[in-house]
Amino acid sequence: RAMGIVKEFEEKCGTPEGKLKQVADALTVEMHAGLASEGGSKLKMLISYVDSLPTGNEKGVFYALDLGGTNFRVLRVELGGREEGIIHQEFAEASIPPALMCGNSDALFDYIAEKLASFIDEEEQRFHQPAGRQRELGFTFSFPVMQTSINSGTLIRWTKGFSIDDAVGQDIVAELTEALRRKGVEMRVAALVNDTIGTLAGGRYTNNDVAVAVILGTGTNAAYVERAQAIPKWHGPLPQSGEMVINMEWGNFRSSHLPLTEYDHALDVESLNPGEQIFEKLTSGMYLGEILRRVLLKMAVEASFFGDVVPPKLEIPFVLRTPDMSAIHNDSSSDLRVVGSKLKDILEISNTSLKTRRVIVELCNIVATRGARLAAAGVLGVLKKMGRDSLTEGGEKTVIAMDGGLYEHYTEYRECLESTLNELIGEEAAATIVVEHSNDGSGIGAALLAASNSLYLDQ
Ligand code: BG6
Ligand code: GLC
Repeated sequence: RAMGIVKEFEEKCGTPEGKLKQVADALTVEMHAGLASEGGSKLKMLISYVDSLPTGNEKGVFYALDLGGTNFRVLRVELGGREEGIIHQEFAEASIPPALMCGNSDALFDYIAEKLASFIDEEEQRFHQPAGRQRELGFTFSFPVMQTSINSGTLIRWTKGFSIDDAVGQDIVAELTEALRRKGVEMRVAALVNDTIGTLAGGRYTNNDVAVAVILGTGTNAAYVERAQAIPKWHGPLPQSGEMVINMEWGNFRSSHLPLTEYDHALDVESLNPGEQIFEKLTSGMYLGEILRRVLLKMAVEASFFGDVVPPKLEIPFVLRTPDMSAIHNDSSSDLRVVGSKLKDILEISNTSLKTRRVIVELCNIVATRGARLAAAGVLGVLKKMGRDSLTEGGEKTVIAMDGGLYEHYTEYRECLESTLNELIGEEAAATIVVEHSNDGSGIGAALLAASNSLYLDQ
């Protein structure tokens, strides 16, 4: 009976190449629709107001804030222009207390402002603020924002584990600026960017061929460089570069081609944002462990997979985190020791047989493979829209800057994503399409964009 559940789940999670190509094509269609008009698609295709990416000439001291991933970061970066590059770079990291993720806007922004204030104090004791210059900051805020300029924009809705009602519809830069004022911090927010945009900017600083950025972490999303003329909903002046970076918010993509199971439906219905972020719920780090838990729970209840009693811990939503799932999946010991100890530590299930452990590893494989293959299909969709999914006439390289804990730490997931992408684009194109890890690039990217939007550009 338990194996019947596994088998059925595996079948429903199937992602043969043909299906992935349908997913990629559907994504491309939605990209066009999202660019055509506001509300034209589930894919918001948000205009970032970034029309030129870093050149390497950026100079000066800039701060950055990075909110929305697993950790909250504050950074100080000293940029020395083309000759010197990044002269200094310091950061401090903290986690956001869970209560603040579902509380009110002032409490969250006060917390951020406080962390920034003490970071500035420490830094400025060591390095002095250049005389006659106001501090400037790039704010990486990794949620969907309808921007009205490079440094203003309203929050459309929260995603991932955040849910703070009174912040929705508010200008995020105004919220931060007010909190900074309450804490007596003088700071100008020069750029408001999504983490994908920050990663794209950070990636481009070190590699000119970076044209796409993908985050695979707690959530998932992508940004890419679009031709301004291919954005019918853009009514502003044509940028000099002729380009505009788009924050796709691809986590909210959905299509009838996505292989959804009963577990995914239940997870969605019981989530903080039912009906939203369906692609994210299939592919990203916040959810993979939770999908696994749901399958195991069904096997425990309906097929006594762990014996006569259903392990009580298994009933707790989100108790199985993706990093634990990754450790289980990655266990190469002959007796699957890691699987055993994870089951014991997290779920208080002891004395599992080797066979039981093997089945659990197999389930990890099913969940991670589906997620990684769908993420690869997403990348293919973006490349198709850009006309970069096959070898170009000039043989130009296309680099995809990737970041996020899932990509960085879940080996099987990363390997599956990369091999699937190669499978989808074919050997010839694979030689010119490269995935690169952009480690924490989004903070640097935000600082770089603060630099190119600084009040002191001529100095
Ligand atoms: C970090 C970036 O490296 O990755 C963040 O600096 C980003 O901007 C994050 O949000 C995403 O990954 P995770 O795993 O922390 O959600
Ligand atoms: C979620 C957010 C998005 C962000 C992504 C990765 O999908 O909505 O803005 O880029 O997570 O952090």
